[in-house]
Amino acid sequence: MTAARLQAALGERAFRYYDQVGSTNDLAHDWLLAGAQSGGVIIADEQVSGRGRMGRGWYAPPGTALMLSMVLHPGSDVVGRVNLLGGVAVCEALEALGARDVGLKWPNDVWLQRRKVCGVLAEAHWQADRLIGAILGMGINVRVDFAGTPFADTAISLETVTGPVDRLTLLTHLLARLDHWRAPLASDALFEAWRARLQMIGDPVAIKVLHETISGIAAGVTPDGALLVRQSDGSLRAVAAGDLALGGH
Ligand code: BTN
Repeated sequence: MTAARLQAALGERAFRYYDQVGSTNDLAHDWLLAGAQSGGVIIADEQVSGRGRMGRGWYAPPGTALMLSMVLHPGSDVVGRVNLLGGVAVCEALEALGARDVGLKWPNDVWLQRRKVCGVLAEAHWQADRLIGAILGMGINVRVDFAGTPFADTAISLETVTGPVDRLTLLTHLLARLDHWRAPLASDALFEAWRARLQMIGDPVAIKVLHETISGIAAGVTPDGALLVRQSDGSLRAVAAGDLALGGH
């Protein structure tokens, strides 16, 4: 993915491309502070300190993934919707390339054949009580080889099911779907698109939240995106955020 091909494909969009960075989310944050407009994207071929959710790292060898971060300026009342935007747009972009059995694992992993094909890291940036903006980071496994790694059974690369993929074509589809959904961030349509794609509803789950693990059956989601868990005593508990394991233990 050369800068020249990117320039031709992205046209008027503000973007910055790097062969190697620390984290695209961190660069996008710097750019946000410097006045970047909504829709600007930072793209990298390799991240040496890529970040995942819950303080974890995220790494893919050069040439194997599509990694980008989009600057957004949502209203503070809907900034919690940014991760929904990422999940839905990635699902739709993968489907545009012919992938099927694409869905979401709450809160925002994208699944392909129930294996993780993409992670989404949405971060809101505030100065005191003023929202400066949000960064939507996405890392899509295009041709990462997970054989022999701890992720061999739980992760998947897009090309495993679609055959060869041009990352620039994937990027073009993804940006089109992000542009489609980023204006109606507050809409019922976006929430419904996200909710309808959650594939683990009805499954036994265990969610690690700070010092406790909440187990039960994933029963649904609330309008603000919390997961509803039916516990063994029959009660429903809303979990706003956490790390979800399938199987309930
Ligand atoms: C997760 O599943 O834990 C989220 C992973 C998010 C990874 C992407 S790659 C591009 C962007 N920059 C980062 O440092 N992280 C996100």
